[in-house]
Order: sequence, then C-alpha cells, then structure tokens
Amino acid sequence: MSINQTTTGQVRGPAIQVQGLAKSYQELRVLRGVTFDVARGSVFALLGSNGAGKTTVVRILSTLLKPDAGTASVIGFDVARQAAKVRESISLTGQFAAVDEILSGRENLVLIARLRHLRDPGRIADDLLARFSLTDAANRRVSTYSGGMRRRLDIAMSLIGNPPVIFLDEPTTGLDPQARLEVWQAVRELARQGTTVLLTTQYLDEAEQLADRIAILHRGRIIADGTLSELKQLLPPAKVEYVEKQPTLEEVFLAIVGAEGTDSTVAAASPDGPKELQ
Ligand SMILES: Nc1ncnc2c1ncn2[C@@H]1O[C@H](COP(=O)(O)OP(=O)(O)O)[C@@H](O)[C@H]1O
Ligand SMILES: [Mg+2]
Repeated sequence: MSINQTTTGQVRGPAIQVQGLAKSYQELRVLRGVTFDVARGSVFALLGSNGAGKTTVVRILSTLLKPDAGTASVIGFDVARQAAKVRESISLTGQFAAVDEILSGRENLVLIARLRHLRDPGRIADDLLARFSLTDAANRRVSTYSGGMRRRLDIAMSLIGNPPVIFLDEPTTGLDPQARLEVWQAVRELARQGTTVLLTTQYLDEAEQLADRIAILHRGRIIADGTLSELKQLLPPAKVEYVEKQPTLEEVFLAIVGAEGTDSTVAAASPDGPKELQ
C-alpha cells in the first residue's frame, strides 16, 4: 500500500511529528509534553526505562490510544483526525510476537498477504523469507523456531504491504544475545530499504547500534534528543588521558539523568547480557 504523495501533498516534512503529547492513566501522569520529530527513512530510538511511557507513545502514534493533549502526525496524517490514513501507512510489531505457532513461517506470511488481498502471496512470502534469512526454515512450524527467528518472522509479517513507517516496540526484550544480533540485522535491513523505523528500547547499546537519532524519555518528557555524537557532546569536554576513550551512551545517560539526582541507575543486567535501564 503506497501513499500517493503527489496527490496528498505529504511529500515533505518528517515521517513522524510529535508535539506536546500528554497522557495520564487516572492519577499517573505518564507523558507530560513529549515532543520529537523522526526524519523520513531514518531509524529513531525512543530510549527509556521500564514504565517510562514508551509503549504509550507507540500506542498513540499507531492510533490505538488517544492522548489527553498534544498532536501527532505520521506521513503528514494526523493521528486523531486521519486515523485510517495513519493505519494504512504503518505497521506495529509489539513486544510479544504475534505469529501463529501451528503454521509454518511461510504459511504465516502467505496468510497475511491473502488477508491484505495482495497479488501473488507466495512470491511475497518467499521474498520476505529470503530478506530475513528464513528460507531454510520456511516450511517448519513456527513452534520449532528460536526466539530470534520468531521475532524476525514477526518483523517480516509487518512489512507485507510495504508500510512506509514501522514501529518496533522493544524488538529484542527477552531475547538471548545471539537472537538480539539477528533482530538487529533485520532492523538494519529495514533501514537499508528506506523504511522509517521508530523503535523503543531500554537497552543503551541497542540504541547506540541501530539508531540515527536517539531520544531519551524520562519522567514523562524527552530529556535528550540527538544523534549519538550530539548526545556525546552533552558531556563535559573529554579529559586528556594517556588512553583516549569515547564516552558511551551509557555515560551520557548517566550524566544527564544522574545530574537530576534521581534514583535511576544503569546496571549490567547480567554479565553477558545487554545493559538495561533500571
Ligand atoms: N492501561 C493502563 N492503565 C493504567 N496504567 C497504565 C496503563 N498502561 C500503562 N500504564 C502505566 O503507565 C506507565 C507507562 O507504561 P508504558 O507506556 O507501558 O511504559 P514502557 O513501555 O516505557 O515500559 C507504567 O507505569 C504503566 O504501569
Ligand atoms: Mg513497553
């Protein structure tokens, strides 16, 4: 499903624009004025600890939830007033893979292509299986897939119909290190094809590895937003030491959040596991 950009006049401007979003659940003020833009064809990471409000932002952008205040648009379509147009332009891959276990990987893909009334579902399935390195496993039941294979299949399924914008909500949470690397490859593949990707993550290294631009959501607001090198410049000038070391995003995060005197800390989740915001 491609957007006819010449007739809609949506050709310019960012892929996603978010301005002053606020959302509360009863007394809990989750979003308190969230503002950011995502450039077309870029990978944007919304980084925040558990409960920061990342899924709430994604649900608003994918028209599943109404904000209390603020505006948001996707490919120029307003999420409140043009929800159907927004839904045609996006795909959403949630934290928990939505694939059918009984079917094979290929059958899952063919099913979705049929449901979307696309021509030649078999060819679409085979192309996606090849792009996400699932050809060898194409005819096996999904119940035999590893976590990384499932998540890759999930991402492949969300690409059927070529949505220009894809939301990946914590694509690697709960995966082992090898599976995370496989999913990272899949995200890079999306970027290579020019899809705009907004991903949420609580992993600093994931944002550092994948994103062109990173926004840190903390206490309901975006407290930092920039490229990795821009975020690194927020640190005091590097000390001259015998061995020069580039600051990691983790150090940038600590410098920003730690400076507020919060109880947030960054800890290694496990000796070999990814670093996670607590
Ligand atoms: N439907 C809901 N009702 C009440 N509280 C909610 C609801 N959805 C989320 N929350 C709360 O809002 C906060 C932000 O949630 P969420 O957006 O899921 O954060 P994240 O995805 O960053 O972990 C959390 O404290 C969560 O418990
Ligand atoms: Mg979430």
